[in-house]
Amino acid sequence: MARVAVTSPLPGPALERLARQHEVTLRSGPPLAGEELALFANDADALICLLADRVSAEVFATAARLKVVAVYAVGVNNVDLGAAFRAGVWVTNTPDVLTDATADLTMALLLAVTRRVVEGDRYVREGRFTGWAPDLLLGSGLQGKLLGIVGFGRIGQAVARRAQAFGMNIAYYSRREHPEASIPDVSYVPNLDELLSRADVVSLHCPLTPETRHLLHRQRLFGMKRGAFLINAARGEVVDEAALVEALASGHLAGAGLDVYEREPQVHPGLLALPNVVLLPHLGSATRETREAMADLVVANVLAVLSGKPPVTPVVGPGLPPAP
Ligand code: DGY
Repeated sequence: MARVAVTSPLPGPALERLARQHEVTLRSGPPLAGEELALFANDADALICLLADRVSAEVFATAARLKVVAVYAVGVNNVDLGAAFRAGVWVTNTPDVLTDATADLTMALLLAVTRRVVEGDRYVREGRFTGWAPDLLLGSGLQGKLLGIVGFGRIGQAVARRAQAFGMNIAYYSRREHPEASIPDVSYVPNLDELLSRADVVSLHCPLTPETRHLLHRQRLFGMKRGAFLINAARGEVVDEAALVEALASGHLAGAGLDVYEREPQVHPGLLALPNVVLLPHLGSATRETREAMADLVVANVLAVLSGKPPVTPVVGPGLPPAP
């Protein structure tokens, strides 16, 4: 029987299944980092963690038995991948199973901010709705508008398909062209600044890496088309949040729909004060079905490694260095 340290309960029966085969130590509480996490994972063969837990080099240096860190998320920016690779430990994530849920939520944010759904809800609750009026809370239509997608992996592509159904034109920026996506009428723009200057709505779907931190810095935010909208359901640190507040407050940008924040769970007070921003508490993959499927995949990864096989969805591991 191997030992599996789990930093948080997960929805669905997956952890119970795991506990029938291995010794599971399950805790609950605030996210773990540094020495605390190293101590928790100290004698574990496998660690299951959330995106808010910080798996630093310290963990890999201390946990001598550790064979796999299974992250309950698709983004693994919370793990020191270089240290994992050097220690010969697998790191796994949960791709595919959350693509639809995250793309759906991106569309929810896009519609909510362009059609002022949250403002409208507040308006009704505050008892201000006195009757239909031709100019009441006018929003922006999507038909014929250009959606600029930054990062064209699974989720970016799923958003493109959905947005096309709403009549939007799609262009994307990515480090490389993605012909394999086979989505008709989508254009690749190899220059991010050009895409930002043309798009009516920009939606972010790139992973957080040292290269994408503050990818949307002040100059780029002000380089976006005047009156455009920004949607971020990827990672908060991809955007310079203080500069975003400036761009929104000055009227350069018409609005933003945000599911993630630069210093999560803190939200920049400037964002809280703006009515043209829709704010969600990182709900991208938050459907019961998806979160249970993520738990299943996490457990499948751990079980594979503990039985001497490669995991189902590896990010790094023995013979698999971190992506450049
Ligand atoms: C992920 O999987 O990276 C998401 O942000 C979690 O919802």
